[in-house]
Amino acid sequence: MAFRPLLTRKTLACAAGLGSNGGIATSFRGLQTFTLPDLPYDYGALQPAISGEIMQLHHQKHHQAYVTNYNKALEQLHDAISKGDAPAVVKLQSAIKFNGGGHVNHSIFWKNLAPIQEGGGEPPKGSLGWAIDNDFGSLDALVQKMNAEGAALQGSGWVWLSVDKELKKLVVETTSNQDPLVTKGPSLVPLIGIDVWEHAYYLQYKNVRPDYLKNIWKVINWKYASEVYEKECP
Ligand SMILES: [Fe+2]
Repeated sequence: MAFRPLLTRKTLACAAGLGSNGGIATSFRGLQTFTLPDLPYDYGALQPAISGEIMQLHHQKHHQAYVTNYNKALEQLHDAISKGDAPAVVKLQSAIKFNGGGHVNHSIFWKNLAPIQEGGGEPPKGSLGWAIDNDFGSLDALVQKMNAEGAALQGSGWVWLSVDKELKKLVVETTSNQDPLVTKGPSLVPLIGIDVWEHAYYLQYKNVRPDYLKNIWKVINWKYASEVYEKECP
């Protein structure tokens, strides 16, 4: 049984939700592969909220591993499709979801953070600020809700502030493992995603996840979140 090659540059870009120029680079055996995006700040620039050691390991080791394994799984998928090997295609789905999700989620996470001297932690202004007050009562109430849901999340995962682009409403969600937010609803667009895997905080905060959650708001890039929100809800 033969299949037409399905993996094009466009489909890979869409699968990552990164657009046509986000973290996609070189061609490997005719396949477009993904690359680790650069951080828009130095590893130590988020201190004291997040240590430089954590940022460097998180970016260079953890995110890089997701990118490497995502590319590997996509290459295997390409081969399996070429051979018409349906069981192998199905078997690869979990690796693609986990590693592709890891790449998508971390690519958002780096943009969700900013050094304090570059606006990190500055409360949202404009329409996002109004929407937060309307949907949650206040920014403090939203932060408390996300911290509570992030602290209560069992195992590893993410806590998200998102906008439902169809309902034009802000929503707080959690996802397990490296599931991207889109698994909770196709109309959900991530504004802020907070990584609550232990690798994101353990070297500095040990087992006290709530302290990490409390401090990360000091370096949250609300300007980025506002830009995404205004694009989805003009
Ligand atoms: Fe992470």
